[in-house]
Amino acid sequence: MAHYTDTIMPEAINKHASQNAIELEYKYGAHNYKPMPVVLARGLGVHVWDVEGKQYLDFLSAYSAVSQGHCHPAIVQAMIDQAQKLTLTSRAFYNDKLGECEKYLCGYFGYDKVLMMNSGVEGGETALKLTRKWAYKIKGIAPNRAKTVYASGNFWGRTLAAISSSTDPSSTDDYGPFLPGAVIIPYDDLNALEDAFKRDPDIAGFMVEPIQGEAGVVVPKEGYLKGVRDLCTQYNVLFIADEVQTGIGRTGRRLACDWEGVKPDILVLGKALSGGTMPVSAAFASDEIMLTIAPGEHGSTYGGNPLACAVTMAALKVVEDENLADNAEVMGNIFRDRVNQLKEKCTLIELVRGKGLLNAIVINDTEESSTAMDLCYRMMEKGLLCKPTHGNKIRFAPPLVIDADQMNHACDIIDEVFLNFTK
Ligand SMILES: Cc1ncc(COP(=O)(O)O)c(C=O)c1O
Repeated sequence: MAHYTDTIMPEAINKHASQNAIELEYKYGAHNYKPMPVVLARGLGVHVWDVEGKQYLDFLSAYSAVSQGHCHPAIVQAMIDQAQKLTLTSRAFYNDKLGECEKYLCGYFGYDKVLMMNSGVEGGETALKLTRKWAYKIKGIAPNRAKTVYASGNFWGRTLAAISSSTDPSSTDDYGPFLPGAVIIPYDDLNALEDAFKRDPDIAGFMVEPIQGEAGVVVPKEGYLKGVRDLCTQYNVLFIADEVQTGIGRTGRRLACDWEGVKPDILVLGKALSGGTMPVSAAFASDEIMLTIAPGEHGSTYGGNPLACAVTMAALKVVEDENLADNAEVMGNIFRDRVNQLKEKCTLIELVRGKGLLNAIVINDTEESSTAMDLCYRMMEKGLLCKPTHGNKIRFAPPLVIDADQMNHACDIIDEVFLNFTK
């Protein structure tokens, strides 16, 4: 195990099956991730099991993608049924699921039109391309001059367009040159947004996460989204909400934007759109915006495939049928209450923040310290899976199907680990 010196291997899980799987990934896979040393083989609801059969509560949910719980039977059944009929046609032909799914999605989220893609970053890229088309064809910005504003700390994926707006050196180092046209302002700062709009008439859009997930679950002040909506309307700039992580019930509302009753001009969804079964993303917009893209000007071989459509409709139905947004709100309140009680007794906790079931504990230590990671290892040993994001913040985002007993059990583990923690 000499080459794992940067990864702790607790004795308890350092058994043959795990070790073998980890070694295979290490030897044959790119080293672009540094996973926790647990090898998962099965999942159901809020639980996952490793190859040695140990059970864990999954408090990451594949970065909020498995909101409906692992292997939800209704989603899996929809997947099997469709997989036995037709999986992919490309958009060279019509298929009998895409139109049905588009109608369902537009009705569900209240937009004229939707463009389905695969990963979240493709949804964001689609939003950016729509913004540029709209800038030239509708707003009247001179060719190749359009700019888009982003907030520092944003994360919308790993393609070159996405990292061209990133302020995180680990995303950008040695990947230049970058796409021009990105203007960066501080997050949760309406004055900075208005200054940017005033300064530059070539600004076409503002892409923003209603809560910044990867940055460490940064929740803006109340009124921010409403202010963004008003400024975008006032300056004729498109408000693009990246709800890839916050959408579909995660924060206790169908969309995080619903907390302030605002409707973005372009809405981007991904992750939980398929309940964690396959990559599905979507950009939603009005006819005016969506129809700026003509046939042949954007697309994807797998985008809007019949399998994705069947799974997406099933996954969204689960969110409604099981009232998962409401459950997220109630369970999130339990979580934050319990962690706030723990904070009274434990100086390791600087604060807990979040909405619904998208939460983070900020650890009272530097961003460079290993404390957050060490705590995650201890919680993993006790059967709770979670991971730090940006150094000293631990994100807690379980499937939205979690119940109060499971939440309290998780909080018991957090209490035990935090109260007994020594370096
Ligand atoms: C807010 C947000 N947007 C976009 C993405 C990119 O999604 P994907 O990894 O599916 O490309 C992520 C991924 O974490 C995200 O959190």
